[in-house]
Amino acid sequence: MWLNTRLQLPVMLSDQLDYQGSIFYLKHHLSHAASAFYPSPFDSAAIITADGVGEWATFSVGVGRETRINIEKEIHYPNSLGLFYTTVTTYLGFPANGCEGQTMALAAFGDPNRYSQEMRQIVKLREDGSFEIDERYFEFRAGRRMWSPRWVQMFGPPRSSGEPWLQRHYDLAAAGQSVIEHVIIANAQLLQTRTGLTKLCLGGGVALNCVANGKILAATDFDDIFIQPAAGDAGGCVGAALALYHQILKNPVRHRIDHTYFGPEFSDDEIEAILKATGLTYRRLDDSMMCREVSLAIHDNKVVAWFQGRMEFGPRALGNRSIFGNATSRGMRDVLNLQVKMRETFRPFAPIILEERSNEYFQLQVKSPYMLIAPQVRKEKLESIPAVIHVDATARVQTCDQLSNPKLRQLIVEFEKLSGVPVIINTSFNGKGEPVVCRPLDAIRCFNQNRIDILAIGSFLVEKSLDGYGG
Ligand SMILES: [Fe+2]
Repeated sequence: MWLNTRLQLPVMLSDQLDYQGSIFYLKHHLSHAASAFYPSPFDSAAIITADGVGEWATFSVGVGRETRINIEKEIHYPNSLGLFYTTVTTYLGFPANGCEGQTMALAAFGDPNRYSQEMRQIVKLREDGSFEIDERYFEFRAGRRMWSPRWVQMFGPPRSSGEPWLQRHYDLAAAGQSVIEHVIIANAQLLQTRTGLTKLCLGGGVALNCVANGKILAATDFDDIFIQPAAGDAGGCVGAALALYHQILKNPVRHRIDHTYFGPEFSDDEIEAILKATGLTYRRLDDSMMCREVSLAIHDNKVVAWFQGRMEFGPRALGNRSIFGNATSRGMRDVLNLQVKMRETFRPFAPIILEERSNEYFQLQVKSPYMLIAPQVRKEKLESIPAVIHVDATARVQTCDQLSNPKLRQLIVEFEKLSGVPVIINTSFNGKGEPVVCRPLDAIRCFNQNRIDILAIGSFLVEKSLDGYGG
């Protein structure tokens, strides 16, 4: 790979893009740190990055102040939290690189204590926060599979995809999850004590672990946390650009983000032309009528696809390419899992809530605009939003502020008038195995091919007749 592509990049860039300018090389974890810190609202913050591997680093701790980032410590391959978690994920029968979130969801069903001693032998945390994996349990260096025969001796045979779930699998997922939390929380507290900083930025693929993120605030002296929505390698480009901009080109002005709607958008004229071409019946509604009708449909337990404005940057659908459902309905989660997403019923759905009301429903004192924190649901609210609560009574919350998405806010306000609850289910607008829809035609195709009742696309409302399901 190095000989064929990576070392040839300067030649490829000049050949294929006719680019003759300077080329800068930025380290992978500096890019993760930059993508976490520079867009954050904090003037200074502690930074932790964790992923599978980038060059040699797998984990770093550092500090950002104004436009400078200083990476203070790195842990190197093969000692990697990301590769460890991917080992647990593939051992449980999921594909690598992308299904780690399923391990996180499964972990809630298990008892972390059953295997925690063994797991902590395999990933040894030292007092200074550094950690080392016991390589005898892994085979990823050889590239055949992640775990070794010794791992199987310790934990039993791996689960194949499609095999039934056993308590042992849940307990292993829980133990793997607890290792991640243990290492990150220990490092976060060490960094907090050493720097005295009260804000924390997280980057790298491991920062997408919203369950661990939710525990950091409770377990350390940090009082606020920021995770840029494309925290994994997809956001590496943002970090590389920002690191160059500030660290090398010395630009003094930070560009902070307060939303993630940076993708393509489509005008009503473009959307209407496509609706006409596909022969769908539709009605044109102004924003307040649209929000009223859609909230009625959600309250009536209909599945609503919502396609509005610019697409989200990053892996989460945050209310512009979303499927919405009734968070107060106990059966809604199974409807969405079995009829639309065609996925395992253990996977929870995320709630979106008005920001100023989130503390009323969740043990959450900070914003969570990108669905990257999973706090506990308050006991007295467990009954009112059953569709979005995971088995461990957490929820992967998205908080909706006053400014970044007015139409979505209006929808939630209308829904509260009907249900008494300012919370709706928000899941990504896509069918099984597909990426989130981007263009109007993707949205219409997904609407036609799945059991979605209503499509709210731009200013247009499309309703499916009862016999209209294309299967
Ligand atoms: Fe990475």
